[in-house]
Amino acid sequence: MAVTQAVLPVAGLGTRFLPLTKAVPKELLPIVDRPCLEYVVAEAVAAGITDFVFVTSRGKGALEEYFDRSPALEATLEAAGKLSLLAEVRRVASLARVVSVRQDAMRGLGHAVLCAEPALRGQDFVVILPDDIVDAAEPVVGQLLRVHAEEGGAVVALKNVPRERTNRYGICAGPMVRPDRMRIERMVEKPAPAEAPSALSIVGRYVLPTAIFDLLRSTPPGAGGEIQLTDALARLPLAHGHVFSGAHFDTGNPVGLLEAQLHYATRHPEYGEAARALCARFA
Ligand code: UTP
Repeated sequence: MAVTQAVLPVAGLGTRFLPLTKAVPKELLPIVDRPCLEYVVAEAVAAGITDFVFVTSRGKGALEEYFDRSPALEATLEAAGKLSLLAEVRRVASLARVVSVRQDAMRGLGHAVLCAEPALRGQDFVVILPDDIVDAAEPVVGQLLRVHAEEGGAVVALKNVPRERTNRYGICAGPMVRPDRMRIERMVEKPAPAEAPSALSIVGRYVLPTAIFDLLRSTPPGAGGEIQLTDALARLPLAHGHVFSGAHFDTGNPVGLLEAQLHYATRHPEYGEAARALCARFA
């Protein structure tokens, strides 16, 4: 059965962008002319996802509003004859169906995914972490769904990281059944470089079966006192890792966001030339 639902955990405080995130959700920070969040929603839509569950917290209401209709604004634009802006506003509102659920306390990514259970239809679903933005010819969600259709079970996106940084990521190990596909036998959250079973880290894209929810309910708090998604994933009977192709940016920190902004700005059909000239000027 086609996978059509995605969970986007966006309840986090975004402390690396404080004080800005006191007032503005980091998911709405712009990459050129669109918020970060639109990039990942568009990626998922391109892979056949139609329904999104945002797991939010206080102060994140603007995320839902961004994808909602805005009748007063639309009427104003229409009356003023600003038809291309009107089309753009309507395009965003028709991109996706969004519902929100609240995570009442920051108890970790695993807990955030568990909060989405009542809003899902009891079928396999996708989890997307909006901090991870990937520019790829085939959307990463689509790459994962292709593996899911072939192998079943859970599928996670994998990326090679420098060995000295394994202590920042969830790390997977197991036999490579194809050059880009691992049958996962071990998953470890943030292992020290000397103890890491590989240097392949999980990037924020997952295809999950509903069996994950019972496992999350019985997962004790792990690293950092939080319920870790990786700990529950490690207990699933079947999981594959897909080493995705594409340019990956971690927009959850200021330098990663700047890198994504430069990447997309210098390739932008309207602003690319100006952006490249600016880069040359500041080089
Ligand atoms: P991070 O660990 O990056 O935390 O969460 P954060 O709050 O977004 O940012 P920093 O580290 O304070 O700067 C990874 C993803 O999991 C979500 C976050 O919103 C982010 O998308 N998350 C994390 C939740 O939704 N709930 C949690 O309890 C923890």
